[in-house]
Amino acid sequence: AKAEPELLKVMISGAPASGKGTQCELITKKYDLVHIAAGDLLRAEVAAGSENGKRAKEYMEKGQLVPDEIVVEMVKDRLLQPDSLENGWLLDGYPRSSSQAAALQEFGFQPDIFILLEVPEEVLVERVVRRRLDPVTGKIYHLKYSPPETEEIAARLTQRFDDTEEKVKLRLQTHHKNVEAVLSTYEAITIKVNGNVSKEDVFAQIDTALTKLLEQK
Ligand code: AP5
Repeated sequence: AKAEPELLKVMISGAPASGKGTQCELITKKYDLVHIAAGDLLRAEVAAGSENGKRAKEYMEKGQLVPDEIVVEMVKDRLLQPDSLENGWLLDGYPRSSSQAAALQEFGFQPDIFILLEVPEEVLVERVVRRRLDPVTGKIYHLKYSPPETEEIAARLTQRFDDTEEKVKLRLQTHHKNVEAVLSTYEAITIKVNGNVSKEDVFAQIDTALTKLLEQK
């Protein structure tokens, strides 16, 4: 089954904590795409305690890429679900290597646009260590830049196991090692977005690009 040509197929990429998840919340709200986040799919496997989850966690703890034999099938299966085929998709945190990009092309998944969030390195660490998640709504917060709205939410916020200063540095190393190969694959459809402004201003840049794309379709 192939997705309809008029549907949007979007990839979003950027360093750890560059704001991918935050922008995906805003994009799905307006464009009604199916958000597929490789990291979220992996964390669900870890939480479920599956064999794949146990193996994946060893790599995630070290800030390394989880092996292709786990990630590639997982993402492909999600892209082939009826909701992704019917609504279009927003792929977050995948592909992260040339082999993952090649696998995607082999399966016939070609995005319309590749959004790259650019944020200076020194900003990323501060974003990671104060990030918090609401386990009830899945919403992403930051203690300084996006604080929880109520005391009740504040009391239930959790932190990701890989959100320490030490681990984000390892995740950044992995990112630098792999990013060029992925960027060169999608060079012709890449838009670079300044991710070091307020989340609303980041979204405004993305919104302009997606609106233009939809008009062309
Ligand atoms: P993954 O879950 O994808 O983590 P990541 O790439 O490190 O990215 P993050 O989720 O940390 O950040 P984000 O860009 O979504 O930022 P957010 O919006 O939350 O991957 C985790 C691990 O899984 C990897 O290390 C790897 O082991 C494995 N993995 C995942 N994909 C894989 C793959 N394809 N292959 C193999 N392994 C894979 O924002 C961060 C913080 O900043 C928040 O607190 C937010 O509130 C705040 N913030 C956001 N925007 C702004 C803004 N404009 N101004 C101020 N603050 C902001």
